[in-house]
Amino acid sequence: MSQVRLGLIGAGSVGVLHAEAALRTPSVRVTAVCDSDPRLARRVAARCGAQAFTDHRALLDTGLVDAVVVNTPHALHTDIVCDAADSGRHVLVEKPMATQVADCERMIKACADAGVRLVVGHIQHFLPEKVAAARAIEAGEIGAPLLFTDSRSSDYRTGSRPAWFFDPRIAGGGVLMNIGAHSVDRALWLMGGQARQVAANLVVPPGSAVETDALVRLDLADGRTAHIEVTSTGTPPAHDRFRIVGERGALVVSPHSGAVLHVDGEARVLYEPTPDDIPAAFAAQLAAFASCVAGQSEPAVDGFHGLHVVAVVLSAYAAAKAGGPVPVSQVLPGRPGGRAA
Ligand SMILES: NC(=O)c1ccc[n+]([C@@H]2O[C@H](COP(=O)([O-])OP(=O)(O)OC[C@H]3O[C@@H](n4cnc5c(N)ncnc54)[C@H](O)[C@@H]3O)[C@@H](O)[C@H]2O)c1
Repeated sequence: MSQVRLGLIGAGSVGVLHAEAALRTPSVRVTAVCDSDPRLARRVAARCGAQAFTDHRALLDTGLVDAVVVNTPHALHTDIVCDAADSGRHVLVEKPMATQVADCERMIKACADAGVRLVVGHIQHFLPEKVAAARAIEAGEIGAPLLFTDSRSSDYRTGSRPAWFFDPRIAGGGVLMNIGAHSVDRALWLMGGQARQVAANLVVPPGSAVETDALVRLDLADGRTAHIEVTSTGTPPAHDRFRIVGERGALVVSPHSGAVLHVDGEARVLYEPTPDDIPAAFAAQLAAFASCVAGQSEPAVDGFHGLHVVAVVLSAYAAAKAGGPVPVSQVLPGRPGGRAA
C-alpha cells in the first residue's frame, strides 16, 4: 500500500489538525471526511479534496478509505471504532481512548478479531521535546527514572470549549479525563511500569457537572510515584511542564522551554521549541500510523496503553469519591492485582 487512504470521522478542532497533518504527509491522503455537522464535513473535505459524509457508516460503506481517524466526542469513539474494524478498516482513535475500560476492551477485541491495526492518538509520543526526553531516558542520561511531577493548566470554565466536554455522559469527566489524560500518558510512558494505586482530589465548582481541577498521586507497581496537577481555576497564563527525576539526573520538559537535561549541576538543552512543533507532531503521528498500516512497524501507542490511561483516570475518580487511595484493579474487573493489560 503506497499511500494510505484516510477517512476522518469528526472534523472539529482536532479533525482539522489531522487534515492539515495529512496534507504534509506523503504516505497518507484524506479521501473522505465525516462530521454530523455537514458544514464542517464539507469544509474539511474541500480542504483535502475529499468526499464529505454526515454518517460514518455511509463513509465506511464506500470503497474510499483503507483506514480512519476517529475524532469524535469521547463516549462516541467505541461504536465508531468497532464499526470501522468490522468493515476491515485500520483505526487511529483519539485520546482518551474511551470513557470506560469495557469500551477500550471492546475496541481492542473488535480490531484483533478483524485483523486490523488499532492505534491510540496520544500525541505526547510525537511532540519533539517529549521525544527528546524519551531518547535521553533510553540513552541512560538520567539513570533509572524515579519520580515524575507534572503541572498543566487549561481553561475549563463553562463555555470555554464545545458543550459536550462538560457533559460527563459524553466526555466521561472533565479536565482530568481530557487534559489530564496527556499527563497520565506521559507519566506511564516515560516512567515505564504498571499503575497500582491512585489517590486524587478534584474540584467540581458549583454549576459544573465535571471537575475543572485535579491533583493526582499515581503509585506504580514497583513503588515509584507520579504527581499530576491539572488546573483551570485562577491559573492564567496556561502552563504545561513536567520534571522527571532519575538516579543521576533530571529532565525538565515543556512546550515553552523545550527539553532540558540536568546532570551534575549543569543544564543542557536537548530540544528548543519551534512554532511548528505541534503540526509536525501530528504529521509524524500520521506517518507512523501509515507505516503501521503498511505492516512496517508496530503501533507507537497500542490499545492496551490507551486502556491503561483510561483506567488510571477512572481510578482517580473512584479515589476522589472514596476519599482515599484506590487500587487500579478496582476499575479492571477480572484482573486482580492491578494489571491493566
Ligand atoms: N491529541 C490532541 O492533542 C487532542 C487535541 C484536542 C482534542 N483531542 C481529542 O479529539 C477528540 C475530538 O475533540 P475536538 O476538540 O476535536 O472536539 P470538537 O467538538 O471540536 O470536534 C468533535 C467533532 O465531532 C463531531 N461529531 C459528533 N458526533 C459525531 C458523529 N457521531 N459522527 C461524526 N462526527 C461527529 C462534532 O460535530 C464535532 O465537529 C476528543 O477525543 C478529544 O479529546 C485530542
